[in-house]
Amino acid sequence: MYQTILTSLENAICIITINRPDKLNALNNEVFNDLDVAIDDVYKNPEIRSAIITGAGTKAFVAGADISEFLELDTSEATELSARGHKVFDKIENSPKPIVAAVNGFALGGGCELALACHFIYASENAKFGQPEVNLGLIPGYGGTQRLTQLVGRNLAMELLMSGNMISAKEAMEIGVANKVFPPEELLPKTKEILSLIQSKAPVAVSKVIECVNNFDHTQQGYDLEIKKFGECFATGDAKEGASAFLEKRKPNFKGN
Ligand code: COA
Repeated sequence: MYQTILTSLENAICIITINRPDKLNALNNEVFNDLDVAIDDVYKNPEIRSAIITGAGTKAFVAGADISEFLELDTSEATELSARGHKVFDKIENSPKPIVAAVNGFALGGGCELALACHFIYASENAKFGQPEVNLGLIPGYGGTQRLTQLVGRNLAMELLMSGNMISAKEAMEIGVANKVFPPEELLPKTKEILSLIQSKAPVAVSKVIECVNNFDHTQQGYDLEIKKFGECFATGDAKEGASAFLEKRKPNFKGN
């Protein structure tokens, strides 16, 4: 069904693997098509409760947008390409089910932006992050100037975006880009482990966490959204089950509604 990605379902976790290892998993038009459909499936398929995005092979997560598609673009085509990428990455960011990036090598340009669009990032020790678009006379086009700045702050984002420098997994963790770093063979098992833990929580509450955090706003608007979403949790059976289970000193049995 897919040309450029692999998917598998394990313990309700959908593992989406970008599968162009000979091109370091660069994001071409087909990858965006496939990713778009796969993320729709994450939204709609009740058998899927969370997802992992990773790259095929041991060298790269995703080494960027496919540069071979850039040569012939004019302004309006490039604008369209960027808007399309934004649409797919926004869908990842706003997924009501958790999506985690397991960064297993180079995460450059669009690859770094793909990881940044996920809800959080686990990385392997050999991972490298960077936004090298300035080397090509470009800027990031899939959210990098915005998501990176929000995550690491203005000055670090300026340095990374203007220099095009790559940083190691350890440095990425120090500046808050990667949450955790593991030896390569432990990356997927550890990512599955955290998602299994998250899947044991009330799914509606988890989706409301995603919504509130994504709409972070330090003005009253952010607090107002939290107040509204907190109230909405009380319309779910899972909120009653959670409190009852605590008071009855047993494990909750969440049903997802
Ligand atoms: N777009 C298209 N093809 C890419 C690519 C990209 N972003 N990144 C890597 N590739 C291709 C290479 O052209 C090469 O293909 P070939 O074997 O047909 O020549 C193959 O993937 C392997 O890459 P190569 O450059 O030989 O590997 P390396 O180990 O020497 O270098 C990188 C690895 C990641 C440092 C280097 O590939 C690179 O700089 N890639 C581009 C990164 C970038 O600028 N990304 C932002 C794009 S906006």
